[in-house]
Amino acid sequence: MTLIPVNTTLVIGLGLIGGSLAKALRANRRFGQVLGYDRDPAETEQGLLSGVIDQAVSAEGLASAVEQADLVVLAVPVKVMETVLAHIAPFLSKQTLVTDVGSTKKNVVEAAMRVFGQIPEGFVPGHPIAGSEKSGVAAADADLFKAHKVILTPLAQSSEAAVATLTALWRSTGAEVLLMDVARHDEVLAATSHLPHILAFSLVDTLAREQDNTDIFRYAAGGFRDFTRIAGSDPTMWHDICLANKQALLGQLDHFSAGLAQLRTAIEQGDGQTMLGIFTRAQAAREHFSRILSGTAYSQNMNNLSVIFRTQPGGSVTGSIRVPGDKSISHRSIMLGSLANGVTEVAGFLEGEDSLATLQAFRDMGVVIEGPDEGRVTIYGVGMHGLKQPPGPLYLGNSGTSMRLLSGLLAAQAFDTELTGDESLSKRPMGRVADPLRLMGAQIETAEQGRPPLRIKGGQPLKGIHYDMPMASAQVKSCLLLAGLYAEGETAVTEPAPTRDHTERMLKGFGYEVVQDAAKASLSAGGQLQACYIDVPSDISSATFFMVAAAIAPGSDLTLEHVGINPTRIGVINILRLMGADISLNNEQEVGGEPVADIRVRYAPLKGIHVPEDQVPLAIDEFPALFVAAACAEGETVVTGAEELRVKESDRIQVMVDGLKALGVDIEGTPDGAIIKGGPLQGGEVESHGDHRIAMSFCVAALRAQGEIKINDCANVATSFPGFVELAQHAGMKVSKEEG
Ligand code: S3P
Repeated sequence: MTLIPVNTTLVIGLGLIGGSLAKALRANRRFGQVLGYDRDPAETEQGLLSGVIDQAVSAEGLASAVEQADLVVLAVPVKVMETVLAHIAPFLSKQTLVTDVGSTKKNVVEAAMRVFGQIPEGFVPGHPIAGSEKSGVAAADADLFKAHKVILTPLAQSSEAAVATLTALWRSTGAEVLLMDVARHDEVLAATSHLPHILAFSLVDTLAREQDNTDIFRYAAGGFRDFTRIAGSDPTMWHDICLANKQALLGQLDHFSAGLAQLRTAIEQGDGQTMLGIFTRAQAAREHFSRILSGTAYSQNMNNLSVIFRTQPGGSVTGSIRVPGDKSISHRSIMLGSLANGVTEVAGFLEGEDSLATLQAFRDMGVVIEGPDEGRVTIYGVGMHGLKQPPGPLYLGNSGTSMRLLSGLLAAQAFDTELTGDESLSKRPMGRVADPLRLMGAQIETAEQGRPPLRIKGGQPLKGIHYDMPMASAQVKSCLLLAGLYAEGETAVTEPAPTRDHTERMLKGFGYEVVQDAAKASLSAGGQLQACYIDVPSDISSATFFMVAAAIAPGSDLTLEHVGINPTRIGVINILRLMGADISLNNEQEVGGEPVADIRVRYAPLKGIHVPEDQVPLAIDEFPALFVAAACAEGETVVTGAEELRVKESDRIQVMVDGLKALGVDIEGTPDGAIIKGGPLQGGEVESHGDHRIAMSFCVAALRAQGEIKINDCANVATSFPGFVELAQHAGMKVSKEEG
């Protein structure tokens, strides 16, 4: 798109916003010279003296300045917009670009219609979302818009070139530019800016009118101050905004009043569940919005920081540590706890971004969930039919398990839903769940090639099917069993090889009948789930990094406490033992239907093997670390039958091949696995492609590397293993984290 050349910009109104824009444009010089006019000649003069503008325009010179300008920016109060527009209209040429910076847009457009009769193609209203309590040209700040949002609201008549030019202009100030239609802009601003401002004004005014208000203000602590900070803004401006955006603001005010009335009733009646519901949802929603906006997954890294791990060579791991809770079990505890009757208490819940994505999804569907607080979560179950339609798409971050399991559950609900995720999740195949769900009668739309987002139509009656899974996937199996809770007749899933059976075990723990018969799991609808207590064991997939670390680093002797050793998850123990690892299990016990043990690993030299294919599904998440073990073993290791690795958070075969090659390892990828020859590892730089398990595996490789390893793109380690770096350091690994 070719931009319209801007050699002269005229800013009318040199307040904080107009002055800051002029200063920013002058600083980068890409949009020509900047002329400035203000109704108050002293402000114009001050703008010139302090270098905010190139040329001061007087009242008499305004007409010719408008004629000369390629772009006119109206930075005047919304209520005088029409007068100013009428004043300058005769001097604008057909090509002149015109924009404004007002906080409401409908009234500006109406004013323009009245003045121009027909909107000129160079007219594109705008609104920078930036400000400060200071005012006047003296406060002008060239950096005011940096990392802030600017909304442009192009009209049907606005030319594409005009929109592109103004977009480029605002971007040159460091702002992020969004396009929105006028009505939506006014609605969004009414909710997010105008409503909070009038609440702040009203609260301070109400309290100030009380008889003995000195005490109230004297003791008003942080909460009052934080909440009412914005009541310090310009009263005239807010008066004008209330009038200009009256309809949208009244709508939001009514909406808010209804919410407040509901909370009032809950307080009056001592209705704890409603109160907790409002407070926990609000607390979580506040964080959730920031994450969605930054496009990241859940708990951390809200500012989209890039995370790098840097490791130093050598070392060993010793002592006794406990890794975080099992991811698969954590997801399922939220799902079944939400559908149960009664209150489910969870301990050991994984506070990683993936399981938090599931937790948030159920909050969005109206379930009251307290926590997590040091792994403790309390879920107030709503029963099999108690979920409510979420207010918007369910954002599931990086979590494939959330999306696949939820799709089954949601296909059977009475309401429509949309499931979305981050960049990696948006590339993962969902046809594997959507296709069999459609056979059950579900209506699901996917993007191209069965990718997310998933749009699920509610209110579809499901019927049970007997499904022979084409791949060994616990996610597909669980998805269909969850749909089966609502389907007519029996739902049965047969797997080509055993996969993790946490769903089946936990359903039984909640008192639901599931028949497990060799490779087939089946259930029928109509039952109820009874709330229970769930003790989540440590995740064997997270323990794996430390097991491999101890297995490859001479001098290591490490115990991993309370790890889940469900027979469908212990492929890694079996494979490492076949390679010669010294692993013993102690304190074996059963906790809430899942076997757990302390796992002790002492260093012993490893040798290459052909990994038995029946172990592959039982160790499916452990292969990145096992590839590292193979690179440190004597001889050749061959992995086959592991094509599923290509559709995990990254193509784990390719990414491991690339990374290990960068460290000098002799490795060759095959369509369904790899051939890895053990040998010395050098230092180097590797890419984890945002895949948590790849990032952690290369940290482990450092124990046997001969130089520093730099591992890029590691933020997603937080999806499954918050605190990984600290725990790895504690155990003896030489890894550090850099955020930038
Ligand atoms: C999981 C199943 C596995 C695994 C994933 C968690 C689960 O996926 O890779 O990390 O909790 O059911 P597949 O079922 O796609 O193999």
